Amino acid sequence: MTAGGAPITVIGSANLDYIVRVPTAPGPGETVLAGAMRKSPGGKGANQAVAAARLGGTVRFVGCVGDDDDGALLLRELRAEGVDSAEVEVITGEHTGLAIVAVEDSGENSIVVVPGANFALTATRVTRVVRRRAGGGLVVLQGEVQPRIIAAAATAARESGSRFVLNLAPFVELDSDVLATCDPLVVNESEAAAITGRPVGSVGSAHEAARQLLERARSVVITLGARGAVWADADGAGVVPAPAVDRVVDTTGAGDAFVGALAVRLAQGAGLRSAVELGVRAGTYAVARDGAQSSYAMSGELVDVAA
Ligand code: ADP
Ligand code: NA
Repeated sequence: MTAGGAPITVIGSANLDYIVRVPTAPGPGETVLAGAMRKSPGGKGANQAVAAARLGGTVRFVGCVGDDDDGALLLRELRAEGVDSAEVEVITGEHTGLAIVAVEDSGENSIVVVPGANFALTATRVTRVVRRRAGGGLVVLQGEVQPRIIAAAATAARESGSRFVLNLAPFVELDSDVLATCDPLVVNESEAAAITGRPVGSVGSAHEAARQLLERARSVVITLGARGAVWADADGAGVVPAPAVDRVVDTTGAGDAFVGALAVRLAQGAGLRSAVELGVRAGTYAVARDGAQSSYAMSGELVDVAA
């Protein structure tokens, strides 16, 4: 094991985010004017890879970009962050994935994603990379990739003795054997509600949902925004409250900051509670700052918590 812990293989999307600030996001039939547009690297996969690398993780990113300027920019950024990008494929004739992110003055955001090259990622390549390279480490995915890719990664992770971490954001239907591999399954309140079929709006209801989901996954984490997160595994369950934030600036990618930090702590061999503690701090750090990746903490910027 290196200083950064066991290897973390993040499989998922890389997008260029086109970020616009608006007073409030447009409703159906509405048009709103934004003051300015800013481009920033994003995509849930790349976000989680960068969040983990900044906190000292040994991180490889597996995904696809187009053969355009946006793709070249994303590759440069990943390398500059210390993420191994040898398994990022450049797809000829495809455009790099993009997202239009409308950030409201309240800090809330609404997002439209155009996957582009991201959907060129094949189950064959994912299986090969996980079998050859992820052994003994963590394999981290998100709901932004197709269910068959998630399923292939779960199978290969089981076969190679890797720990499978799934952030099911956005929610997609998965086979029960894929859910049963998740250690943990990480979801927010609305994704937890989509899986359990019951609203999750309080710490109490999140505990109940986590108990329910623990029958289907090896371990479970439900993030609760300003209320922090609840976790449950074979050893127990608990809540980790979020520290108070003076001003919520931009919640974009907060969940990804959480997952990247959680992965780093798990790769260091810590238990789930300790990993959730670091995840909550990383998420809270990110919401207090502008942007997604640009708001992620470096090692030493999070007040550390005992493992
Ligand atoms: P997602 O963005 O995926 O919906 P959450 O909103 O649950 O995820 O946020 C993930 C984490 O980010 C939370 O567990 C928390 O640590 C932090 N966070 C999010 N919103 C806030 C907030 N308003 N105040 C403090 N921390 C927050
Ligand atoms: Na942020």
